[in-house]
Parts: sequence; C-alpha cells; structure tokens
Amino acid sequence: MELATRQLIYVSRHPCAELYNRFHQRGWQVEVAASAREASRAARDRGATGGLLDLSSAFPAHEIAAFEAPLTLPHVGWVATATAGQLGDSGLRRLVRDYCFDYVTVPSSGERIVDSVGHAFGMAVLADPLASQGQMARSEGEMVGSCEPMLQLFRLIRKVALTDAPVFISGESGTGKELTVVAIHERSIRRQAPFVAINCGAIPPHLLQSELFGYERGAFTGANQRKIGRIEAAHGGTLFLDEIGDLALESQASLLRFLQESKVERLGGHGSVDVDVRIISATHVDLQAAMRDGRFRPDLYHRLCVLQLDEPPLRARGKDIELLARHMLERFRKDTSRRVRGFTPDAIAALHNYPWPGNVRELINRVRRALVMSDTRALSAADLELADYVATQPVSLAQAREAAERQAIERALLRHRGRFSEAASELGISRVTLYRLLCAHGMRQDEGAPPELRDLPAGVALQL
Ligand SMILES: Nc1ncnc2c1ncn2[C@@H]1O[C@H](COP(=O)(O)OP(=O)(O)OP(=O)(O)O)[C@@H](O)[C@H]1O
Ligand SMILES: [Mg+2]
Repeated sequence: MELATRQLIYVSRHPCAELYNRFHQRGWQVEVAASAREASRAARDRGATGGLLDLSSAFPAHEIAAFEAPLTLPHVGWVATATAGQLGDSGLRRLVRDYCFDYVTVPSSGERIVDSVGHAFGMAVLADPLASQGQMARSEGEMVGSCEPMLQLFRLIRKVALTDAPVFISGESGTGKELTVVAIHERSIRRQAPFVAINCGAIPPHLLQSELFGYERGAFTGANQRKIGRIEAAHGGTLFLDEIGDLALESQASLLRFLQESKVERLGGHGSVDVDVRIISATHVDLQAAMRDGRFRPDLYHRLCVLQLDEPPLRARGKDIELLARHMLERFRKDTSRRVRGFTPDAIAALHNYPWPGNVRELINRVRRALVMSDTRALSAADLELADYVATQPVSLAQAREAAERQAIERALLRHRGRFSEAASELGISRVTLYRLLCAHGMRQDEGAPPELRDLPAGVALQL
C-alpha cells in the first residue's frame, strides 16, 4: 500500500525546536497546535495523521479535558508525552489509556518519540479505510460527512454564513438541521453575539407572544417584572426559529410584522424597540403542502426563505453511513469498559440496507445502545437491532427496476436541490412525468395539478 504523506499535529504549549527539526529531517510535515481547539482544526480535512500530545507542557486542567475531542478523531494516531508525576493523575491517565497508541515518559530521547509517532501514524492509516483510498472525512464543526451532497452542504454553509439574508433549512427529522444552523452562526460575523433558538412547536400558542416579544411589568396578572423576549435577546446575533412549520397562524402574523419592521413591542409596552437579528428557520414539515392547506402563510414563507439549504437524508449519503457509525462509536466508546473495535461485516451490510427514518439521530441511538448491550468486541447487526436488514431481500426484476428508478429520482432531486426542471432534464423526462413518478413512488402527494400550475419552491437556491 502506498503511504500517505506523513503529517504530524504537534500539540504543545512549548514546542521543542530540537524535536520539531528531528521530525522534519525524517520527512514529516509538522503543524504545531497550542490548544485542543487548534488541534481539532488542524486535523480537519485531513487523511490519516500522526499526533503528538505534549502533556508535559503544562496545559491547564480545562484544556486537558477538552483534548478528548481531537483524541477521539479516528484518523489521527496519537502518542502522548508526560512526566512520570503527571501519570499519577487519573483523568490524564484515562485520556492516555483510552485514546493514545503509546505514551513516552519524558525526559526521553527524541528518537524514541519519533519512532513511536511513526507507528501510531501507521496504525491510523491501516484503521482508516477512507483515508487510504484517498478520500477523507471532512467535518464542518461537529458535522461529519464526505459524500458529495454533504460536501455541497458544507460549501453552502460557508457561503450563506457570509451574508445576512434569512436562511431556511429543510430536511427530514434528525438529519442535522440544528447543527447546520449553529455552523452558519459560528462562521458568520455575528459569531460573538447571541445565538437564540426558539422551538416554535414546543411553546404553547398562548405563551408564544410573550416568549417572543416579552412584556412590561404589570402587562397582565402575574407579570411582576419586565421580561425581555427571545427576539430582543438575540439582538446583534442570530435568531433560530426551529420547527417553524408548527407555528400557529396567529403567531405567524406577529412574526411577519416583526420581520417586516425589525421592531418588537413588548406586551403592555408603549413603544417599540429596534432589533437587529439574522433569521434562520428550519422545519421537517413540508411547507409547500402547509401553504396549500392554508396552515402556513405564503408571505411569511417568502420572508423566511430567501436562501434555502436542504439536509440530505442519511439513506442518500452512501459511504457516509459507515463513516458516521464509526465516528459515533469513537465518540461513545467510553460508555463501555469493554474494548470495542468496530462493526462486523453483517452490521456494515445492515447499516447500508436500512432506510433510516430517524436519520443521524437514530444512528447515534442505535450505536450507543449497541455499545452498552453488546458483549463482544465488534458490534453486530443484532446489537444494532438491525438483524432483519443484513441480507438484501430477494427481489424480482420489476422490484429492482422500481428501486433503481426511485433512487435515480431521489438523487437527481437532491443534486438539483428540489428543482423540478433541472432534475427532470437530467433524468431525460418531462416535468409532468417526474411529478407523476414522484406520486407513484409515494414521494409526493398527488393533488391533481401538474407542476406547471403549481408554485415551485420560493427559496432562491444557491448555486456554486
Ligand atoms: N453530519 C453529522 N455529523 C455528526 N453528527 C450529526 C450530523 N448530523 C446530525 N448529527 C447529530 O444528529 C443529531 C440530530 O441532529 P439535529 O438535532 O441537528 O437534527 P435536526 O434535523 O434538527 O432534527 P429534528 O428535525 O428532529 O429537529 C444530533 O445529535 C447531531 O449532533
Ligand atoms: Mg432540530
């Protein structure tokens, strides 16, 4: 197997020049990181990498705890250096024991450290099949993904983060909508300002007004002191309106007024307050259908949906399903004292065959549960409670054709972000045929009218 370029993340508060040079001479590309956060950033977008964590360089306790995140990255082979005294600390010992390939007690010869890191790197190359195929997992903050739809989403996140326009995020339950919103906020110029999330579906309609807009003292019985509403609390930052599809019609009217005027009036107040927020909204509800049924105001939709991002469902992410499963295994490995190494081949097959109605959230739950319940070193399909999905069921040619047709349609729509014309043209069919097929496959409700007579999604789809 051809070896990847040897890259090293050298995490230290006081990097040793002699050691640095020694790595260089042995052909390593060295990047120094001074904190857990910098280490995670350095590891991002890389294939297999060596890691040297210099615990002897006096990191404060909170920083040491934060190392768990970069240490769990499956594509980095870590070696720690620590003084003999430090290894008496149980927290630090656990980090080294659970996540490092090796440790070296310092003082020690530079040669010993370089050799050990070389082995750790070699193990990371062997353990990371994607890295050795030249692909790599990319992470957007916390988001893991390497398939084309996810890379596209990462590009769009960076792009929309640069603007202040409202963003609307659609996607099935558990696909990562909230994670995407946080990623946008953290990359925007508002990242230092508040991020306020409101779950529009969770707040009863009669409380929503006071939650959103706040109230003055004495506005109603029980209003003993002024309360600043959530919209005002987000001033200068980002307001995330989650589950916007569940917002009652009466509340939609007040929200629309705020979006038009950028002012809020507290209940019982006599004037309005200017509020500057960037609006991001999300829902798993089909807002097009909600608008047709009169449950969602089209004028509010057009205000919210200037830019649109769609989260791909897990079943459309190919190899990423496995990548995410392994990522979650690393993340929750500590829930068990057994040394779980990975997944059995039948588990991998089931991960690909199962349709994942609950998406990434369901995947996380299944892996966590399996880690706790399993007695073996590799998690099986049965541990994931997916034993029924190991073998693909026997299929007739007609069923195979139907499945292929459905998959091609799903992929074309994903690639063209729901735009009928482009997807139909790629598939070599008319929009009417595409619409008919969607209904036939149960991917859309047939309401009788051909798509030409309908409103297509109002979101200005971002093009790269
Ligand atoms: N690409 C990803 N990489 C890593 N973790 C992910 C990814 N996508 C989602 N998750 C995790 O999956 C879980 C569900 O994600 P999130 O809450 O963002 O989904 P959602 O679309 O908002 O779901 P819902 O519609 O139910 O509100 C979270 O624990 C999140 O951290
Ligand atoms: Mg959510």
